[in-house]
Amino acid sequence: MRETPSWDPRGYGRYADERARPFGDLLAQVGAEDPRLVVDLGCGHGPMTMLLAQRWPRARVVGVDASESMLAAAQELDPDGRVEWLLADLRDWDPVSLGEAPDVVITSSTLQWVPEHLNLIEPWVQSLAPGGWFAMQVPGNFDAPSHALMRATAQTHRRGGELTAALDVPAVGEPATYLRMLARVGCRVDAWETTYLHVLDPEGQEENPVLTWVSATGLRPVLELLEEGEERDAFVQPYAAALAEAYPRTPDGVLFPFRRVFAVARCVGGSV
Ligand SMILES: C[S@@+](CC[C@H](N)C(=O)[O-])C[C@H]1O[C@@H](n2cnc3c(N)ncnc32)[C@H](O)[C@@H]1O
Repeated sequence: MRETPSWDPRGYGRYADERARPFGDLLAQVGAEDPRLVVDLGCGHGPMTMLLAQRWPRARVVGVDASESMLAAAQELDPDGRVEWLLADLRDWDPVSLGEAPDVVITSSTLQWVPEHLNLIEPWVQSLAPGGWFAMQVPGNFDAPSHALMRATAQTHRRGGELTAALDVPAVGEPATYLRMLARVGCRVDAWETTYLHVLDPEGQEENPVLTWVSATGLRPVLELLEEGEERDAFVQPYAAALAEAYPRTPDGVLFPFRRVFAVARCVGGSV
């Protein structure tokens, strides 16, 4: 399988409620009543996929992910084997391998890691059963201070060239990008964006909650490249200081605005 950034289910589980919210908001717009097959692309450590199984108890539910550690954690969440957990890279994954047409394909907080996704969505949608649903959510925060400061700090590090290259993932599309693409293949589309104002660590127990958040997601390519110790500290220390200034503690906690882009498509005629 091709290389993707490594994932740590424990780190990602921090701020679980905040990370679950967009999945719930996405799922709320999917009107499938009694689907036979539901697929979660980039299922991670599984709690969201388990929600799909709860919502549609009669459905076959498949979770696909490229991370062995995330899938191992997902299997622990699912001792009865309710979900089929599948190790695959979305860049190579073929929906035909499911053996039947899916009624719902959902993907949340994943496609930002798959720069090729604009070319993948169309075949996924074309694999849907008649009347099937495609639902996606991606962070739209690449220009937010959390990410802009990451790129700026990378340039000051002695391995700046490598770090900059590792962080050079093309930004995701706008809601209109996904709306147009999905409408072109014959779907009825609802696309929108939301900026959540997360209140991190209201108890004041963490030194730098935004650093904790990004360490489990956007900062992973940097953490993976830099060796623990002096090399990593030379990035993390100035970055943490810049984050603390950009996201100061308030009496309510650390306020962390987070923009996300959503699209839900009902594909009227099956093979559209
Ligand atoms: C931020 S987590 C999202 C997990 C879950 N969908 C959620 O909403 O909480 C992103 C997941 O995408 C997976 N991922 C990233 N690139 C991938 C790829 N090319 N193929 C399959 N999975 C990938 C990662 O392994 C990780 O588990």
